[in-house]
Amino acid sequence: MAGQQHSPCFLHIQSIIALIFLFPLLQSQPATSPTLLRLTTLPLTLSVVDFGAIGDGVHHDTAAIQSAIDACPTFTSKVCYVTFPPGSYLTATVRLKSGVVLDVQEGAKILGGTRIGDYPREQSRWYVVLAENATDVGITGGGVVDGQGLAFVKRFDERKNVMVSWNRTGACYGDECRPRLVGFIGCKNVRVWNVRLTQPAYWCLHIVRCENTSIHDVSIYGDFNTPNNDGIDIDDSNNTVITRCHIDTGDDAICPKTYTAPLYNLTATNCWIRTKSSAIKFGSASWFDFKGLVFDNITIVDSHRGLGFQIRDGGNVSDITFSNINITTRYYDPSWWGRAEPIYVTTCPRDSRSKEGSISNLLFINITANSENGVFLSGSEGGLLRNLRFINMNITYRKWTKYEGGLLDYRPGCQGLVKHSIAGIIMEHIDGLEVENVNMRWFDNHLRRWNNPLDFRPSTVNNISLLNFHSGLYKVEIEKRERERSGRTTDNPHSF
Ligand SMILES: *[C@@H]1O[C@H](CO)[C@@H](O)[C@H](O)[C@H]1NC(C)=O
Ligand SMILES: *[C@@H]1O[C@H](CO)[C@@H](O)[C@H](O)[C@H]1NC(C)=O
Ligand SMILES: *[C@@H]1O[C@H](CO)[C@@H](O)[C@H](O)[C@H]1NC(C)=O
Ligand SMILES: *[C@@H]1O[C@H](CO)[C@@H](O)[C@H](O)[C@H]1NC(C)=O
Ligand SMILES: *[C@@H]1O[C@H](CO)[C@@H](O)[C@H](O)[C@H]1NC(C)=O
Ligand SMILES: *[C@@H]1O[C@H](CO)[C@@H](O)[C@H](O)[C@H]1NC(C)=O
Ligand SMILES: *[C@@H]1O[C@H](CO)[C@@H](O)[C@H](O)[C@H]1NC(C)=O
Ligand SMILES: *[C@@H]1O[C@H](CO)[C@@H](O)[C@H](O)[C@H]1NC(C)=O
Ligand SMILES: *[C@@H]1O[C@H](CO)[C@@H](O)[C@H](O)[C@H]1NC(C)=O
Ligand SMILES: *[C@@H]1O[C@H](CO)[C@@H](O)[C@H](O)[C@H]1NC(C)=O
Ligand SMILES: *[C@@H]1O[C@H](CO)[C@@H](O)[C@H](O)[C@H]1NC(C)=O
Repeated sequence: MAGQQHSPCFLHIQSIIALIFLFPLLQSQPATSPTLLRLTTLPLTLSVVDFGAIGDGVHHDTAAIQSAIDACPTFTSKVCYVTFPPGSYLTATVRLKSGVVLDVQEGAKILGGTRIGDYPREQSRWYVVLAENATDVGITGGGVVDGQGLAFVKRFDERKNVMVSWNRTGACYGDECRPRLVGFIGCKNVRVWNVRLTQPAYWCLHIVRCENTSIHDVSIYGDFNTPNNDGIDIDDSNNTVITRCHIDTGDDAICPKTYTAPLYNLTATNCWIRTKSSAIKFGSASWFDFKGLVFDNITIVDSHRGLGFQIRDGGNVSDITFSNINITTRYYDPSWWGRAEPIYVTTCPRDSRSKEGSISNLLFINITANSENGVFLSGSEGGLLRNLRFINMNITYRKWTKYEGGLLDYRPGCQGLVKHSIAGIIMEHIDGLEVENVNMRWFDNHLRRWNNPLDFRPSTVNNISLLNFHSGLYKVEIEKRERERSGRTTDNPHSF
């Protein structure tokens, strides 16, 4: 019993007494009194309170939290739960390691620090909770991880908040220089479930170069006016499953990206989303391929864009399915990307040095949309849209906000914002589009400016098939009279 070399014995000792004696030997720092350690047999559970955490939301508990994590044995196949009992635990960056799951209990909250000194030197590691090159890691427990994002607002503005920038270090520029909330980088077997992630200062949940990630029963609440308040960003990762999520935030809600490697096999189901930007957005970082993604049973409410592809850097996209999706999109301030498009599929070179990626084999099936703008399908000369299928769709167009329409949004990069009259589906640079059982309805209200169902850019669109496609006016007046007769009156845009 005299040193670290004995630690493998730990695996085979089941007796609690033996664990209590051995345990201090596994720690890098002098232990708190061993009798304070609440060790059950399996799974192993350590409470941050036993390592000195105060949980008053005022004093930093970083050292206590990190000691609890570091006290988890490294050489075991069992998961070690690091428990946060009810309380508010203010902390600098906490680093997870293999085999550790944070158990943030109901009534407990991890509060991210708001000082630059609370985060590591490298901007790429600015997270409140960070796991790097770890396996079998996660967060759960029914509690909250909170980034105190509002403390990073320099000026509140209903159109778009002006944010603090930590760019003085030179690590990053402009206004995208704030810490993210939770990051898993280069990890395997990640599980985030039954937890609430709130008020990130920048992006919320970031999955980078990971393999086998499961995110379920997670709710995300960002600020609706804060830029870059993304929900879940998944970069260069394979085999990711997201289900039963509730995301209500300012920027893109579920956002796959490729910076250094392709992204395969992402599935997102049974989610509810509201955002001032795109609910689902591919890109815009898109240097490598995206393949085999499925989105099913998703409700998108009052968002600036529904299902979006912003492919800009040469990566190719293929084999993507969207099924059973209910979308409501509307205009917001144009400083946000998005023009109320329920479906937006674009690929163009970001700038003169960029390549053009292609997008092929997309299936949209069982889609309901209520929108202030039409569908935008825009390939580019060297990056065609190929084999797109729209099956069983009811799209209803009605304008209800005061914002002007009539702009095509190619941002970021490409042609920027371009004046163009509105249409039900705008198409350019496409080879292969099948439309089947699609019903487009138009509200005939005072803002009626558009009743052009299909707009093709001449000589760029090939091989189109329309089967049981219908476009017609929605008879508001008749509806209204019927409503009045049955004693109901309403101006609610969602009630139609
Ligand atoms: C994680 O692995 C990457 C790639 O092997 C390496 O560059 C990085 O330094 C590692 N990070 C840590 C914290 O070990
Ligand atoms: C830092 O960000 C502020 C606010 O966005 C901006 O005014 C300033 O020019 C930026 N400085 C650098 C070096 O990016
Ligand atoms: C994937 O990760 C989960 C934990 O999130 C684990 O239970 C499962 O065994 C892993 N699957 C593989 C194939 O490693
Ligand atoms: C994902 O799969 C692709 C193709 O096999 C591979 O190139 C890439 O390295 C994988 N990424 C990860 C994070 O495992
Ligand atoms: C993606 O999923 C398919 C089907 O399950 C599987 O065959 C393939 O290996 C997966 N790709 C990667 C990169 O893991
Ligand atoms: C669709 O997702 C919602 C949650 O957003 C869930 O309540 C419902 O049961 C799901 N429907 C199906 C058919 O799975
Ligand atoms: C995309 O596809 C084109 C055409 O097949 C190919 O030349 C290019 O290398 C692909 N892009 C990537 C990032 O693999
Ligand atoms: C779509 O969602 C809206 C609320 O966002 C709801 O009123 C409507 O009934 C839903 N439509 C369908 C077909 O599920
Ligand atoms: C579209 O509307 C028709 C008639 O109202 C309805 O039968 C059908 O289920 C709807 N389809 C979708 C995908 O909402
Ligand atoms: C589309 O909706 C129909 C009717 O509700 C259903 O039978 C079919 O399974 C759905 N298709 C998909 C791919 O979910
Ligand atoms: C036309 O497009 C469909 C799919 O949209 C594809 O299956 C078919 O092969 C294409 N036909 C030609 C002649 O390119």
